[in-house]
Amino acid sequence: MFGLHYNLERNAIGLVLAIVVVAGIGGFIEIAPLFTIDETVEQDADMRVYTPLEVAGRNIYIREGCYACHSQMIRTLRDDVDRYGPYSLAVESQYDHPMLWGSKRTGPDLARVGDKYSDAWNTAHLNNPRDLVPESKMPAYRWLLRNELKTEDLGLHLAALRKVGVPYTDEMIANASIDAYAQANPDTNDAPALAERYGDATHIRMFDGDGARLTEMDALVAYLQVLGKMTDAAYQPDLPEAQ
Ligand code: HEC
Repeated sequence: MFGLHYNLERNAIGLVLAIVVVAGIGGFIEIAPLFTIDETVEQDADMRVYTPLEVAGRNIYIREGCYACHSQMIRTLRDDVDRYGPYSLAVESQYDHPMLWGSKRTGPDLARVGDKYSDAWNTAHLNNPRDLVPESKMPAYRWLLRNELKTEDLGLHLAALRKVGVPYTDEMIANASIDAYAQANPDTNDAPALAERYGDATHIRMFDGDGARLTEMDALVAYLQVLGKMTDAAYQPDLPEAQ
């Protein structure tokens, strides 16, 4: 063994070839799972897309670095499933660009936090976690309630997501800004069109409790409330696999 290594180190071409072979084996093992990706990712016709307000909330989630403390992937382990619900399926993050699975859990996993708490709870918690959970280590995000949400570029965000495969229609892209306002304001005339575009299950309500202003809090709470609710694939016993 050591003799082989000794000789190899003295033979430049042999060493290069050996490196290529060893790195090739490692590389193959890394990409091998991709050969079966079509069978791995489930297909669900009911998978819905994020509304513009939810996309804005997701962008805020990324901006604030929530993924540094929260994962969004329930593992197949027994205690994960007992605590958070059915383990995460690939299809559930099909439209997540970039994915936010995370690898650090200072706080709990958020993959199924949608509908777990009321909007009022989430708003108060993000504003100052210690008002609700006295021992919480989570930072307070007070500016979310103060900051007006920027909506003029939401159409561009949707168009960019469409480029990577999220099925947004031209109509959704053209109305992104109006739809964002409508979702946090049930009384506007635009709310029915929003529900028609994104489905009746769309949450249309004043997420931060104040209908007069559209804030970053509205967007982030709207996003949190759909986590784990984009498809019920995880609750179906036999989901057909993609062909
Ligand atoms: C420094 C780490 C840290 C960061 C950053 C952080 N959190 Fe948390 N989060 C926690 C901890 C710890 C808890 C558990 C205690 C509590 O409920 O406050 C928690 C709890 C939560 C919960 C309740 C989860 C449940 O199932 O009870 C939600 C929702 C949440 N965080 C959302 C967020 C969002 C959104 C952000 C980004 C704006 C964020 N967190 C940033 C640490 C963090």
